Amino acid sequence: MTNPAAAELIARSNRLGADPKNTNYAGGNTSAKATEPDPVTGEPVELLWVKGSGGDLGTLEESGLAVLRLDRMRALVDVYPGLEREDEMVAAFDYCLHGKGGAAPSIDTAMHGLVDAAHVDHLHPDSGIAIATAKDGQELTATIFGDQVVWVPWRRPGFQLGLDIAEIKEKNPQAVGCVLGGHGITAWGDTSEQAEKNSLWIIDTAAAHIAEHSRPEPFGPPLEGYAALPAEERRAKAAALGATIRGIASQDRPMVGHFTDSDVVLDFLAASEHPRLAALGTSCPDHFLRTKVKPLVLDLPPSASVEESIARLQELAVAYREDYQGYYDRNATPDSPAIRGADPLIVLVPGVGMFSYGKDKQTARVAGEFYTNAINVMRGAEGLSTYAPIDEAEKFRIEYWALEEAKLQRMPAPKPLATRIALVTGAAGGIGKATAKKLASQGACVVVADLDLAKAEAAAAEIGGPDVAVGVAADVSKADAVQAMVDAAVLAFGGLDLVVNNAGLSLSKSLLETTEADWDLQHDVMAKGSFLVSKAAAKVLIEQGMGGDIVYISSKNSVFAGPNNIAYSATKADQAHQVRLLAAELGAHGVKVNGVNPDGVVAGSGIFASGWGANRAAVYGVEEKDLGKFYAQRTILKREVLPEHIANAVFVLCGPDMTHTTGLHVPVDAGVAAAFLR
Ligand SMILES: NC(=O)c1ccc[n+]([C@@H]2O[C@H](COP(=O)([O-])OP(=O)(O)OC[C@H]3O[C@@H](n4cnc5c(N)ncnc54)[C@H](O)[C@@H]3O)[C@@H](O)[C@H]2O)c1
Ligand SMILES: [Zn+2]
Repeated sequence: MTNPAAAELIARSNRLGADPKNTNYAGGNTSAKATEPDPVTGEPVELLWVKGSGGDLGTLEESGLAVLRLDRMRALVDVYPGLEREDEMVAAFDYCLHGKGGAAPSIDTAMHGLVDAAHVDHLHPDSGIAIATAKDGQELTATIFGDQVVWVPWRRPGFQLGLDIAEIKEKNPQAVGCVLGGHGITAWGDTSEQAEKNSLWIIDTAAAHIAEHSRPEPFGPPLEGYAALPAEERRAKAAALGATIRGIASQDRPMVGHFTDSDVVLDFLAASEHPRLAALGTSCPDHFLRTKVKPLVLDLPPSASVEESIARLQELAVAYREDYQGYYDRNATPDSPAIRGADPLIVLVPGVGMFSYGKDKQTARVAGEFYTNAINVMRGAEGLSTYAPIDEAEKFRIEYWALEEAKLQRMPAPKPLATRIALVTGAAGGIGKATAKKLASQGACVVVADLDLAKAEAAAAEIGGPDVAVGVAADVSKADAVQAMVDAAVLAFGGLDLVVNNAGLSLSKSLLETTEADWDLQHDVMAKGSFLVSKAAAKVLIEQGMGGDIVYISSKNSVFAGPNNIAYSATKADQAHQVRLLAAELGAHGVKVNGVNPDGVVAGSGIFASGWGANRAAVYGVEEKDLGKFYAQRTILKREVLPEHIANAVFVLCGPDMTHTTGLHVPVDAGVAAAFLR
């Protein structure tokens, strides 16, 4: 049963975490102390419940808490070997755990355990960090809060910071909390209610002081010619630049992207001080791993053309990497972890917005949120004073902290298609949906495209939330719609790596019955549609410079000749030859082009459901529901082919094991000798 103190703690954490003004995503931690009977002795034992490593306050559950014995935790003070070896104390926390199953204790556990208050909140509010990073933060703290809140000079989180804050609390019995220089705030209370009230009072009082006393233009006067482009223009420019910028951010390892053109970002980039402030970098310790110390900022006005912007971005990328390498070399010691890559994680384009990157969509999105926090912090600090984040050496000590490195090493291995951005056409149902699902299950981000937006979105929602799959409407036979679809992929996930030309439909008619319109429709959707999709996608693949895959779902009928199929089979043969032509042409860019030849996929197929199946069943004299089994009997393996079997073949062609195969067609038809390839 949940201890009432822990229940209060979870409720308070969820309330605090639900409002972004109180703390950044997954930032901060909270705790409660209370007594419980010791299951071993039956005697009461003092316990500490504290948010464990990782996880977000807004969604904290009991499983996210570490539970420690307070007597043992506090006894660590006697064996603490001093600042130089404070990191060793994290491993020692494991020997204080009470029972099993809880979360791993975080580095901030010491602060919570050592401070003599029943409830403690450590938070990263923009308003509090603005004071914490102001040049005269100590004086501001006194001015704003009197003796109610105490200034703690910057110190990297750890056991010593816990000791410092415990001492401050003891020496300042009137205080309700403190501002942690360069970092955030900590507040406490005898009850959960009091701790929450004190936290909110510090956050809101700081925000109100900034609102009242900030100078009018904290980021300086508007920069001539740097006002944001109109919404549609900036989205178009973001889409046109997205592939290049993802390539820049992915030189060391492939990244997924996130784009935002929020007012916060655009206002910052429209003001004269943005280059100076961006160069000063972010501040909160949580940020460095996700945003790197500073962003890459395009130093051209919004009126610059896409071509000019791309050329300048490429130059700036070279400079960024040199600069980052310099930062690493200046600060690394012999036992520092190896450099984790020198590419920017945040790229700012004036008038357009912010691109942020990470190993998956969620990480990329949160990196962007963190930089938005940083902009808010800089606005507050510059409004009252001068923004003065912790110095470079301290930033490095956080970014390349051995404890953080150990956490990274413990991460599970990524899935085979992690970081890859897939686009599947005709993916609202049938083979396309099964393929989108398979690719997502293997770690890809997927754009589900189909004629009907609602159906595309429904399929995407079935596959996963917006960090995994998004639905877009696109008629692949229309060049404009295809371009808009590719742009949507770039804006949703940063770029494109894996394109599946699956959209299609089938009319089975004899030569004499086939109308000109039938012929055009079949060819428009399949031959022309896949040409248009490949063309628009290839531009992105080439600009990214990260290779890629294009897969055509053609058909057994691309090689097999039978009656009543002139339009369908001819356009499938066209698609099949596109595979070979594009394999030859795009190989120079590292792009593989392959095809899958399905046959007799009845289950889940819209083609069969919309009359073709009934027609075929009547021709063969079987019930429509038995058509799949009937087809199975015609195959060599006597197996029914399902959409998942086609999806599996697509995955294999694009997955980590088929790196050296291009121009290939894989039959997935349970064996049809007449369609053997030779
Ligand atoms: N089912 C089979 O046995 C079989 C055999 C060989 C090849 N194929 C091929 O597999 C692909 C998928 O077929 P399925 O059986 O899953 O059929 P399906 O009808 O279930 O799926 C096709 C999808 O394409 C979409 N689509 C149609 N026209 C479009 C357009 N202009 N733009 C965008 N989307 C469009 C449809 O809305 C539908 O969601 C097709 O290319 C088909 O020719 C299927
Ligand atoms: Zn913190």
